[in-house]
Amino acid sequence: MWGGRFADGPSALMEQINASIDFDKRLAEQDIAGSRAHADMLAHQGIISRQDADAILAGLDRIAAEISEGRFVFKRALEDIHLNIEARVGEIAGDAAGRLHTARSRNDQVATDLRLWVRAACERIDHALLALQRALLLQAEEHAGTIMPGFTHLQPAQPVTFGHHCLAYVEMFSRDRGRFMDACARLNESPLGAAALAGTSFPIDRERTARTLGFARPMRNSLDAVASRDFALEFLAAATIASTHLSRLAEEIVLWTSPAFGFLKLSDAFSTGSSIMPQKRNPDAAELVRAKTGRVLGHFVALAAVLKALPLAYAKDLQEDKEVLFGAADALELSVAAMAAMVADWKVEKEAMLAHARAGYPTATDLADWLVRVAGKPFRTAHRIAGAIVKRAEELNLPLEQMPLAEMQKIEPEMTSDVFAILSVAASVASRKSSGGTAPERVREQIGFWREKLQ
Ligand code: ARG
Repeated sequence: MWGGRFADGPSALMEQINASIDFDKRLAEQDIAGSRAHADMLAHQGIISRQDADAILAGLDRIAAEISEGRFVFKRALEDIHLNIEARVGEIAGDAAGRLHTARSRNDQVATDLRLWVRAACERIDHALLALQRALLLQAEEHAGTIMPGFTHLQPAQPVTFGHHCLAYVEMFSRDRGRFMDACARLNESPLGAAALAGTSFPIDRERTARTLGFARPMRNSLDAVASRDFALEFLAAATIASTHLSRLAEEIVLWTSPAFGFLKLSDAFSTGSSIMPQKRNPDAAELVRAKTGRVLGHFVALAAVLKALPLAYAKDLQEDKEVLFGAADALELSVAAMAAMVADWKVEKEAMLAHARAGYPTATDLADWLVRVAGKPFRTAHRIAGAIVKRAEELNLPLEQMPLAEMQKIEPEMTSDVFAILSVAASVASRKSSGGTAPERVREQIGFWREKLQ
C-alpha cells in the first residue's frame, strides 16, 4: 500500500487499530462521487488524459453497482473505504487507475466524503422532523380545545389545552430543524484540492469539483480544510439538542400512559407486555427514545474530546469522527421516526385530562386575577386572599367553583357571585387570550400558522 518505503506489512494489532473499513464503508457513495468529480476535473484540466479519466469513471460505475448489489468485497488489509475503492478501480481499469490519486490525498478525500455524508444526514433528519411536526400538528388540530392540566414543577399549575402543549413541541422541533439547516449551510464547502495539507502543484480547478459535488464553494484554507471537524461537532450538537427535546416528549408519554395519569393510551403496536405481570402495557419505545439522548450526547462529548488540543493539520485521531457521527445520526433518525409514529398512534383520554385539570385548585390564579380586576385589589393582596380561600376549600374538600359564596365572603367580604363565572377550567383556558396564550382561539391561530408553514 505504501509503495517503495515499506518492506513488511503491518502487525495484526496494527491492522486492527488502524483499519476503519468496518465503519467507513458507509462513505462509499460519497467517496465514489468525490472520485468522479476529481477524475473529471483532472481530465478537464489536462492533468490526466480523457481516456484515462473515462476508464476510471467506468470503473467507479462498476464499483457503485457492486456495492449496491452487495457484491463488493471490503478488505481490512486495505484499511479504509478510500483505498478499498481505489484498489478496485485498479483491478478494473488497470494502469489508468494509478492516475486517480494525482493532486489528491486521503486527507482532503475523507474530509470531502464526510461533509457530503453529514449534509445528506441533515437533510434526512430535517424531513423526519418535519413529519414529526406534522403528526403533532394533527394532534393540535384535533385537540385545540381539549383541556388538560398545565404543570410547573410537575404540580398542577393552570389548565391549558392539549393542542397548545403539542404546538410547544412543534416550535422546539422547528428550531431543531433550523439548527440542522444552519449547520448544513456552514459545512457546505469543498475541502477537495487541499490535498494532504498544503494544496498541490498541479493546476487543479477547485471551483469545478466544488460545483460538481453541490458545494457552495471551495474552502479557502487547505490546512483548515483537512484539519477541521467543527462541522461534525456542530451536527452532533444539533443532534444532542434535538434529542433532548425528544426525550422530554418521551418522558411525558411515559408519565401520561401510566395509569396514575391516564392521559394517553398507546395501541398494542407501541406497547410491550411483561413476561411475569399479565396486566402490563409498557411504553418501551418512549423509554428508548428518552434513553438514546444519552448516546447522542455521549457521542458529542467523545468528538469534542478528540478534537480538543489536536495540532494542525490532519492526524489519525480524526478517524474517530465517523463512528460517533454515524451512531448519533442512526439513534436520532430512529428516535424521530419512532416518536412520529407514537404521536400518530396515541389515543387521548379527554376525560382523564379534564378530571386531572380540575384537581389541585388550578384556577386559583383566576380567582386572584378576578379580585384585581373586579375588586381593585393589588395583585399581592389578591394572591393572599385567593390562597386563604383555597385553604378553606381544601378543608371543606370542595373545588373552588363549588365553594359557597358565604364561605368566601367570610374571608373577603367583596366577593360576589360573579366570581363563579371565572372559576371553571374551561373559563380559565378561554380567558388566556394574550398573544401566545392557551385560549383555544389563540391555539387555532397557531395552528393556522403551522398549517401553512409545514405544507
Ligand atoms: N481513514 C482515514 C480517516 O478516516 C482516512 C484519512 C487517512 N489519512 C492519512 N493520512 N492516514 O481519517
